[in-house]
Amino acid sequence: MSTSDGRATAVAHSNIALVKYWGKRDEELHLPVTGSLSLTLDAHPTTTTVAFGRTAGDEVVLNGEPATGRPLERVLRFLDRVRAQAGLDAPARVSSENTAPTAAGLASSAAGFAALAAAAAAAAGLRLSPRELSVLARKGSGSAARSVFGGLVLWHAGEDDASSYAEPVDAHGLDLAMVIALVDAAQKEVGSGEAMRRTVATSPFYPAWAGSCAAELESMLSAIGRADFTAIGELAEANALRMHATMLAAVPPVLYWAPGTIALLAAVRRARREGLECYATIDAGPNVKVLCRGADAGAVRDALRAAVPEASFTVAGPGPGVRLLETSASAGGA
Ligand code: PMV
Repeated sequence: MSTSDGRATAVAHSNIALVKYWGKRDEELHLPVTGSLSLTLDAHPTTTTVAFGRTAGDEVVLNGEPATGRPLERVLRFLDRVRAQAGLDAPARVSSENTAPTAAGLASSAAGFAALAAAAAAAAGLRLSPRELSVLARKGSGSAARSVFGGLVLWHAGEDDASSYAEPVDAHGLDLAMVIALVDAAQKEVGSGEAMRRTVATSPFYPAWAGSCAAELESMLSAIGRADFTAIGELAEANALRMHATMLAAVPPVLYWAPGTIALLAAVRRARREGLECYATIDAGPNVKVLCRGADAGAVRDALRAAVPEASFTVAGPGPGVRLLETSASAGGA
C-alpha cells in the first residue's frame, strides 16, 4: 500500500439511452442483463475533483453540501474500489458540482460517476485506457460506463467485468438533438437500482423484454449505420415504452410517469402527425427527452412548449466524452 497526494478534476456529461439498460445480472459489478445504446449530451455536465491524502478522513461534498446517506455510501464504496485497484491507502476529498436535477431520471448518476471515475483514477495514479475507464465507471452506476464517451455509445453487456464496457459508435450522416422536457424535478420515489431489481424479480414481462433487446440493439445499430433517422426514432420510442411496460407489471408496480409525461407523449405524437419528426424516450423519472434532427430542435421545443407550457425545456446536442481538466501528482501542484 502506498499513500499519495494526487489530485485531479474531470468533467462528464449525461447520456440518454435509445436502447435502454434495465436490469442487472450482477448487482456487485453492475453487469447488465442486456446491451444498450445511448447519446451523450452537451447539457448538464458534472465537474468533480478528487484529492487524496490531504484530509484526515474521506470527505464528500456534492453541490456544496456534505453528502450523507445513500449518495455518500455509493461514493465511498467507489473510492474503495479505486484505492484497491491503485494499491493506495489514503483518505480522499471529493467535491462535485452537478448541473442536472439529481435523481429525476436525467442520468445525473451517469455524468457523476463518469467524472468521479476519471478524476479518482487520475488522482490515484492509475493509467487507464478509455475502455478500462468505462469498466471502472460502470461499477459506480451502470449508465456511467457510456458517459465516458461522446456522441452515440454502445455498452456491451459482456460476459464478465472486463468485457462489459462501452465504446463510441460512428454517427456519420446523422444530425441528432434532444429536447429535454422537465415536468418534475423532485427526487424520484423509487431509485433505478431498486426499480430494476423489482422488475427483474417480479415482472412477468421482464423475460420478454430481455429476450427482445439483442435484436432491438442490432436493428438500432443497423439504422445508425444507414443514418436512418426515422428508424432510430421509432426504435427508441418503442424501446422506452416497453421498458416502462415491464416496470408497470412489477410487484409492487413502478410508475414514474406524471400527468405532464403523458401530455408530452401526446404532444410528440401530434408534432409527428403535423410533419415535425420527433420521438420520445423516458427514463427512471417523469421527464421526457425528445429525439429530433438538430435542424428541427427549435421547432420541436416550440411545439412541445405550446402544448405543455408548464414544462421547462432544454435543447441539447451530442456532447463529448469525459475529460480531465487538471491533474497533479503532488501537494500544492496545479
Ligand atoms: O445507471 P442507472 O443505474 O441509474 O440506470 C439507468 C437506467 C435508465 O436510465 C432508465 C436506462 C439507461 O439505459 O440509461
